[in-house]
Order: sequence, then structure tokens, then C-alpha cells
Amino acid sequence: MGARIVGTGSAVPATRLTNDDLSERVATNHDWIVSRTGIHERRALKQGEDLIDLMHAASVQALQTAGISAKDLQAIVVATVSGEYYFPSAACLLQTRLGADNIPAFDVGAACAGFVYGMSVVHSYAKSGDYGKMLLVGADALSSMVSWKDRATCVLFGDGAGAIVLDTQPGDRGLLSTVIESSGALWELLYVRSGHRLTFDQEGEMPEGWGIKMKGPELFKVAVRALSDVANKALHRAGLAPQDVSLMVPHQANLRIIQAVADRMGLGMDKVHCNVQRFGNTSAASIPIALDEAVRAGKIHDNDIVVLNACGGGLTWGASVVRW
Ligand SMILES: CC(C)(COP(=O)(O)OP(=O)(O)OC[C@H]1O[C@@H](n2cnc3c(N)ncnc32)[C@H](O)[C@@H]1OP(=O)(O)O)[C@@H](O)C(=O)NCCC(=O)NCCS
Repeated sequence: MGARIVGTGSAVPATRLTNDDLSERVATNHDWIVSRTGIHERRALKQGEDLIDLMHAASVQALQTAGISAKDLQAIVVATVSGEYYFPSAACLLQTRLGADNIPAFDVGAACAGFVYGMSVVHSYAKSGDYGKMLLVGADALSSMVSWKDRATCVLFGDGAGAIVLDTQPGDRGLLSTVIESSGALWELLYVRSGHRLTFDQEGEMPEGWGIKMKGPELFKVAVRALSDVANKALHRAGLAPQDVSLMVPHQANLRIIQAVADRMGLGMDKVHCNVQRFGNTSAASIPIALDEAVRAGKIHDNDIVVLNACGGGLTWGASVVRW
């Protein structure tokens, strides 16, 4: 039996913020942002817009492509650190919106690595034999957690949601391995205190001490090592090696990080799907948005070996290997 990904979906806010838009707010410019990150634009939620709408749209698409109804689901897991409420969880709000009550629905919080952490949950559920069809969503709105005065962070992040539907089916296709790891000792490389959110179009400023704090250059090095090492571990656990990889869909934080990871793994960039240029770093949403895009573009075929790997605040990191 294998937990196969049978449906994908994604949704992003309508508002596009280009690098030129940001250069009107902070001392930055298009060339700096592109050369250091690869990012050209990102999408951001405005005041009054709600991440739950994106989660719902992405989930409906994933259910449609899977050809199943929300009533067929047996679990809903949402990877997010952006819930509007301390409780209920975003997953419970999504559950009622989808009309899928009376099944487990809960959030997993591992920042940008959240989607892969969610994969480890659904993978274990599938292996238990107790769950068949499951919905896994990755969604975040970090644009409301940056200080729009901090050029080092506000240029990096965007908002969005992506979703997959898994179904446990006979055969050897589906999730082959998932490895997750974390290092609390490195928490100060990337963090944000809870309590204050501010969309890019909102009056006022993030209070001193709040907003995402990041030690960019140190994080860069850890991320490259963690993303490549954990992908190699997950491949090894599946009895595979980097040369078996058909497509890697990594967390989209920075094009240079992605290129360095591919390089360390000996993968050509033709085997890596990137969309950081158009969406920036959408945290837990980045892998499912990119995966949905790759599927719709016909880049993934039956029996392809697909690697999903991410690294984020915590620090947390992980990788999943899927036989499509
Ligand atoms: C953030 C990051 C793009 C910065 O790139 P970098 O090449 O390391 O740049 P540095 O931080 O060393 O900054 C170089 C200079 O650019 C300046 N700078 C920072 N942000 C800038 C911006 N948006 N526009 C223009 N200049 C900027 C810095 O102030 C610094 O100036 P100084 O030399 O006068 O002090 C890079 O470190 C990175 O991507 N790190 C990982 C971030 C990440 O992935 N986070 C999420 C993980 S889930």
C-alpha cells in the first residue's frame, strides 16, 4: 500500500508586489533583490482578506483534481504558523468550510518546513492503516509578520496556500520516506514574536522588537546544508540516490539557496522546479504551490521520483520522497 498524491491545488492573493513597489517603501532596488534572492515579485494579503479563503480555494482544487468530495476525507492537516485564531485551528475552520466534520483536523507548526512536517504526519497515518483519503494544506501569510520598514526581510516573503489530497492505494507508488529534524539551538537565526500582525497596506508600524528577525547569511549556510543533507537521507531511506531523482520541488526561499542545494546533490537545475521568482518565500505554502504548478505543467509523470525538501524557523527541516 502507498499514500499517493492524487490531487493538488493552490491559491495566492490577487495583489502583486513587485520589487519596484518595495523600493518605494524601503531602500532597496530590483537588481539587488534579484541578484541576492532571485525574487521578482510576491503576492500579499490586504487588510480584510483572509488566508482561510486561499486555503479553501486550494483545497477545493485539490479535491477536484483528485475526483473526490470533502465528505470522503478521513483527516485534514494544515501546516501553518499564520492562523487568525490561537484556537480553533486553521484546520478546524477549513474543515467546517469544506463540510467535512467529524474527522480529525489540526494544525502543524514548523514554519517554512511545516509542509514536510505535515507529510510526516499523513505518512504515519497512512502507514497505520487507519486513514485512507487525507487533505494536507500548507498555508502562510508572513507578509503580515514582517516590519515593512526592514528591507532585509520585507522583500523576501509572500502569502499563499497549497493543498494535496492523499489516498492510500495498493501498489508501490506514493510516499516512500519522510525524514524530519530540528535544532532548537538555532532558533535565533529566524524568529518572530507572536502578538502583532500588520498587512502591507495597513496604517501604522510593527512595534520595536516585533516583526521577523533573521540572521540571513548564517541562515543561508545552514539552509543549504540542511536541505541537501536531509534530502539525501530521505533518498537513502527509500533505497534511492540523487541520480534517481526525476524532480526536486524544494522550499522556495531563495534561488541561490536552491541552486546551491542542487549543486551539493549533483542535480542539474533542469531537475528542480522553481517559482520563487514570482511568489517569494511563502513559508509552508511554498512546496504545495510549486508542486501544483509542476503537476499542471506536465512536469511530473507516473513513477517519477519526486523529492520535497524544506527548511525553516525552529530551525526545522525535512524531506519526503514520493514515487508519483
Ligand atoms: C537575506 C539574504 C538575501 C541577504 O543576502 P546577503 O548576500 O547575505 O546580504 P547581506 O545580508 O550580507 O547584506 C549585504 C548588504 O546588503 C544590504 N541589504 C540587505 N537587504 C537589502 C535590500 N533588501 N536591498 C538592498 N540592500 C540590502 C545589507 O544591509 C548589507 O549592507 P552592508 O554591507 O552595507 O551592511 C540572504 O542572506 C539569504 O537569503 N539568507 C537566507 C534567508 C532565508 O532563506 N530565510 C528564510 C529561510 S526559510
